[in-house]
Amino acid sequence: MTDLIGLYEKLEEAAPGRVRRNQAELCCYSGDASQVKGLPDFVVLPESTEEVSRIVKLAGEYEVPVTPRGAGTGLAGGAVPVRGGIVLDMSHMNHILEIDIADLQVVTEPGVIQDRLNQALKPYGFFFPPNPGSSAMCTVGGQIANNASGMRCVKYGTTKNYVLDLEVVLADGSVIHTGNRCLKTSSGYDLSRLFVGSEGTLGIITKAVLKISALPKCRKLVMVSFPTPEAAGRSVSLVFAAGVMPSACEILDRTSIKVLLKLDPDVILPKDGDVIIFEVDGSENAVNESAELIAGAVAEISSSVLIIDDPDEMQAVWDARKLLGAAVSKLDNTKTRIYLGEDLGVPIRKLPEMIEKVYEITGDLGLQPMIYGHVGDGTVHVGQFIDVLDPESWKKLEESADRLHLAAVSLGGTVSSEHGIGAARGEYLAAQCGHAFDVMRLIKKSLDPKGIFNPGKLGLWRKKQRRTGK
Ligand code: LAC
Ligand code: ZN
Repeated sequence: MTDLIGLYEKLEEAAPGRVRRNQAELCCYSGDASQVKGLPDFVVLPESTEEVSRIVKLAGEYEVPVTPRGAGTGLAGGAVPVRGGIVLDMSHMNHILEIDIADLQVVTEPGVIQDRLNQALKPYGFFFPPNPGSSAMCTVGGQIANNASGMRCVKYGTTKNYVLDLEVVLADGSVIHTGNRCLKTSSGYDLSRLFVGSEGTLGIITKAVLKISALPKCRKLVMVSFPTPEAAGRSVSLVFAAGVMPSACEILDRTSIKVLLKLDPDVILPKDGDVIIFEVDGSENAVNESAELIAGAVAEISSSVLIIDDPDEMQAVWDARKLLGAAVSKLDNTKTRIYLGEDLGVPIRKLPEMIEKVYEITGDLGLQPMIYGHVGDGTVHVGQFIDVLDPESWKKLEESADRLHLAAVSLGGTVSSEHGIGAARGEYLAAQCGHAFDVMRLIKKSLDPKGIFNPGKLGLWRKKQRRTGK
C-alpha cells in the first residue's frame, strides 16, 4: 500500500505550501467539462520546471499517478485523475517569457491563458491562431496536450502547426527539449508532434515555443442559408473548388440557429434554414473578392446570403457562437447538454453522409441533435441533451454516441476532431488507428514504463478493444 503520509511530506518539501489535500479542494479537481469523474489524493501547484521534475520523481518512486491540468475546460476527462494520485495544477506557471517578433515566435509557460496570450500579441499586430471555444479560460499547455483547434483552423491549422519546441519533464524527472527555435528543422523524429495531443500520458510540458501569425487587416462574414443541412455540408467542397480558403467555416443547423437567437435575440444571423458562416480575412481587396466567390460558388444550392463586416457585429456573432455548446439547454431547461459522441471528424467530401448519419442515428433513438462545428476542416459537433435524472435517456445517449463514433470511423473519419480522447472514448482508438495503436502502446511503454503519467486515458489501459464497426 502506498505510504500517502510519507508522500505528502516529500511533496511539501518539493513545493512548500503548495500541496492541497483537504477534501473540498480535491473535489474541485475531480472533474472537467465532461461527465468523467475522479478524485485525486493530492493537488500540487508547481512554480518551476525543477519543482515539476522533483514531483514526477516522487510519483515514480511511490508509483502513484500524476495528471497535469490546465484550466480544466476539457471535454473528454483528459485532466481528470481517474486513478487518483497527484494532480499537477499548472496554472501558477503562467508567464509569457518572451515575445520575439523577429523570429515570429513566443515563449510561454503552460499555464498562460489563450486569450491573454493574444491580448499580449495584439499591439505587435500578431496572434496565435488556434482558437478553441474556451479561449477565455483554457491554457496553452492544455491546448498543446489536446492539439486543440477551433474556429480558424481551416486556414491557419491546429496547435500542432505552431509548436516549435517544448520543454518536457519525462518519467524519470529528466528534462528534454523536443525542438529548438528554428522555424523549421529536419533532424530526426518530430518529438514536438509526439507530445502534442498526448494528453499528459508521455510527460509534463513545462514551457513552449510557439509560432505566431500576423493579424489580418480585414475580415468579413458571409452567412449562407441552405434548405437542408446536407446541402450546407456540400457547400464546403464547392467553396474550396472555387479557390477560396476561408479563415473560418462553421455549420449551424436550424436548431443551433434557434439556440443562438434565444441566447442573443439581437445577434445578426440568417433566421431560417441551415447555415454556414464563412469568414474571410486578408487585405480589403482579397476579402471582397473571396466573399463574391463564395456567394457565386453556393448560388445554386443556397437559399440566401447575408454579408456583414462591422467589427462589433462580427464579434457578437462569434461571442454567441462560442457559447453555443452549453447553451443548447436553452431549448428545454429540463435537459442538460452532455458531451458524448460530440466531436466527430470526417474527410470534407464525406460531410453530407456524416450529417445524414447523425440524423438517422439520433432519430432512431428519439433524440434531438444540434449539429454545429468547424466543417471547413471536417469537424461535426453533435449537441445532445437529455434529462440527466432519467436512466433511460442516458442509455439512449450512450447508444447514440457509440453508433456515431463507429459511423465516423467507417467513413474514414476520427472519433475526436479536437476535444481529445481522454477517458471518454478510449475504446474507439484501436478501431480508428488499427495496428498504429500498437505502436502508440509501445511508445507509451518506453517513455513511461511504470505507467505514472495520466493512467486510464487514450484507451491504453484497456485489455479489450472496441469492435471496428466496419
Ligand atoms: C466548440 C467547442 C465545443 O466548437 O469545440 O464550441
Ligand atoms: Zn469546436
